[in-house]
Amino acid sequence: MDKEQKYRSLLPQAVSLIGASKDLVADMANLSALLHQEMGWWWTGFYRAVGNELVLGPFQGPVACTRIGFGKGVCGSAWERGETVIVPDVEAFPGHIACSTESRSEIVVPVRLCGEIRAVLDIDSRELACFDGTDRLYLERICTELACRINPELRAYVESEILPRYDSFDKGHRRDHAETVIAQSLQLSTWYDVQPDLVYTAAACHDIGLCEDRATHHIVSARLIREDTNLQKWFNAKQIALIADAAEDHRASSGHEPRTIYGKLIAEADRQILPETVIRRTIQYGLSHYPGLDREGHWARTLEHLHEKYAEGGYLRLWIPQSPNAARLEELRRLIRDEARLRTLFETFYQEENDQEPHI
Ligand SMILES: [Fe+2]
Repeated sequence: MDKEQKYRSLLPQAVSLIGASKDLVADMANLSALLHQEMGWWWTGFYRAVGNELVLGPFQGPVACTRIGFGKGVCGSAWERGETVIVPDVEAFPGHIACSTESRSEIVVPVRLCGEIRAVLDIDSRELACFDGTDRLYLERICTELACRINPELRAYVESEILPRYDSFDKGHRRDHAETVIAQSLQLSTWYDVQPDLVYTAAACHDIGLCEDRATHHIVSARLIREDTNLQKWFNAKQIALIADAAEDHRASSGHEPRTIYGKLIAEADRQILPETVIRRTIQYGLSHYPGLDREGHWARTLEHLHEKYAEGGYLRLWIPQSPNAARLEELRRLIRDEARLRTLFETFYQEENDQEPHI
């Protein structure tokens, strides 16, 4: 089994351990045991943020430092920076705190809730460069789940009654789409003072209206949420209204802002601003809506649209600034500024689109 496969089989186990005990330290204890045992690392554990120090929490492995200052060592740096830190060679990390001489590489992942870092997950390996983007992805996912601690009964209901509905939808809206939006919106939600169970349910239900109609599916999703009496086991009327409104607002366009933070979280988690896709779609739209334009006309229209919507001061709005879309929008803006590079991409896509079937 490679690392990705190990994480994939471990993730559902990790998620099922979280929340049942209704105690954060108990969850940390079981998670560090599971991760340590399955992944075979040298040291796996949590430090909790207490005042201006990190204090040793549940862990597996040899004895460790009990207190680490803000900004000190790899753990304190991850806390200070507010992001995951991967260190391929701890000897080369300035200010590294050596708890054990056996440790060669390290990853530290913050556990954030309501915008504040509550703890960090710290993992050491005896091998150099043991950690990469795969570890970051899955460990951040686990730390988000730990921070959010979704009600296990609610999760069981969603997994058995809501998510299977996606199996009959089109390829872009199958169960994996709902799961991606759940993971992404929960991660974004850790920056805000929100109720994670509401975010989770809104994300899980946001597209269920596709069972009736594509054009109005967001409105149908909201109606189905309001009609679902099972949700009353976990939510009051006001909370159900928030969940339904968030689902209804998930198709927010630039002219229609989601009414609440819940709608903003789901809408942002549901979209992906990919620079090349944006450019290709702009060309596709032009070809189908302005068939009278020639190549130069399409180039001018493409430029105008990209500037109006995506450039600095353009009308596109990010609902959640901490979203990965922020970095992708920056990349697109760099591309818009570099007109020579943009023209090259335009020529490639324009040619490819024209070589395909005529646009009606
Ligand atoms: Fe949708």
